[in-house]
Amino acid sequence: MHLLLLLAFIASFLNINDGEEWCYHSQFECTTQCKTPDRWQTIRNNEKCSGNEQSPINIVTKKTRLDEGLTPFQLSGFQETFHSTITNNGHSVKVPVATNAYVSGGKLDGRYKAVQFHLHWGKDGGPGSEHTVDGEQYPMELHIVTMKEKYTSLSNALADRTGVAVLGFFYEESSRSNKQYDAFINAVSRISQSGANTSITLSLNTIMPSPQNMTNYFRYPGSLTTPGCAEAVVWTVFERPIPLSRSQLQAFSRLLFKDNKAMVNTFRPVQPLNNRIVFRSAGDAVLGSIILLTVSLAAAVRLSSPN
Ligand SMILES: *[C@@H]1O[C@H](CO)[C@@H](O)[C@H](O)[C@H]1NC(C)=O
Ligand SMILES: *[C@@H]1O[C@H](CO)[C@@H](O)[C@H](O)[C@H]1NC(C)=O
Ligand SMILES: [Zn+2]
Repeated sequence: MHLLLLLAFIASFLNINDGEEWCYHSQFECTTQCKTPDRWQTIRNNEKCSGNEQSPINIVTKKTRLDEGLTPFQLSGFQETFHSTITNNGHSVKVPVATNAYVSGGKLDGRYKAVQFHLHWGKDGGPGSEHTVDGEQYPMELHIVTMKEKYTSLSNALADRTGVAVLGFFYEESSRSNKQYDAFINAVSRISQSGANTSITLSLNTIMPSPQNMTNYFRYPGSLTTPGCAEAVVWTVFERPIPLSRSQLQAFSRLLFKDNKAMVNTFRPVQPLNNRIVFRSAGDAVLGSIILLTVSLAAAVRLSSPN
C-alpha cells in the first residue's frame, strides 16, 4: 500500500513536471502534458509569452515603413574561425559563438556581441520559418543572437528592452547544395539524440549571406520566440534568403526531440503585431531608384536633344 502511494506520488510529480515543460505543436500527444505554444504563458515565470510585443510576426511588406536610417551593418570578427560545440538541446540545434564577433550600425544602440546561433525549421524542407513575409513561410530560419557588449550574460541583457539583437535569416530551397554548409550539416547529422553534442569549427560569415545581400531588412521590437518570451529583442529580419538544397534542409528533420519524436516544425506561430510598426531599410531599393532616375534622365536628355 505504501509502495502504491509512493508510486502515485512519483507519477503525479512526473506529471507536474511534464506539464511545466514547453514544446512545439509537433510534439503534442494526448498522453504528453507538455505545453504547446498556445499555453506557454501558463508555465511558471512565462507570463511574458502573452505580452503585446511578441515574436515572431507576419511582415506585411506594404504596411512596412521606410527608414533611411536603417543603413548596412558593420560586422567585426564574423570572419574569425572558432572551435565550438554544437548541441541538440531538445528543442533545436545551438552553437555558442566562441570568438569576439560584433555587429553595429543599422540603427542598433551601440555594439552588440554575438552569443549563439540556432535554427527553426519545418519538416523535410517544408514550411518552417518563424517570421513570415506576406504570409509566406520559408523552409528554415537562422537566429544569430547578440547582446549589448556591456552585458556579460544573456539573462542580464534580457532585462533591457533593447538588450538583445537577433539577426534573422531565411533559407530557400535551391537546386544546388551550399558547400559553405557542408561541415555544419555534417555536424548536425552526428547529434540526432536530444542532449548530444559534437565539436565544430566555423566562422559566422560562412553561414551568412554575403554583405551585399544583407542590405535589405526589416526592423521591429519583439521578443524571444521561446519561453520565457522576454520582450528584450531588437529584431532584424533579412529579406534575402540563404540557399540550401532539399537534402541539406532535410538533414534537420532527422534530429530528435527529447521525447524521441522527429524534431520537425520547430517554430512558434506568428503573434499579433498590435501597435508596433515594422520598418524596412532602403537597401538596394535606393540603388534601384537611382538607376531608374539615371535611366529616365538619360531618356529625357535624349528626348530634349535637338535633331
Ligand atoms: C557534450 O556531451 C558530453 C557527453 O555527454 C558531456 O560530458 C559534455 O559536458 C557535453 N559538452 C557540452 C559543451 O555540452
Ligand atoms: C545574393 O543572393 C542571390 C540570390 O540568393 C545570389 O544569386 C547572389 O549570388 C548573391 N550575391 C552575392 C554577392 O553573394
Ligand atoms: Zn530562435
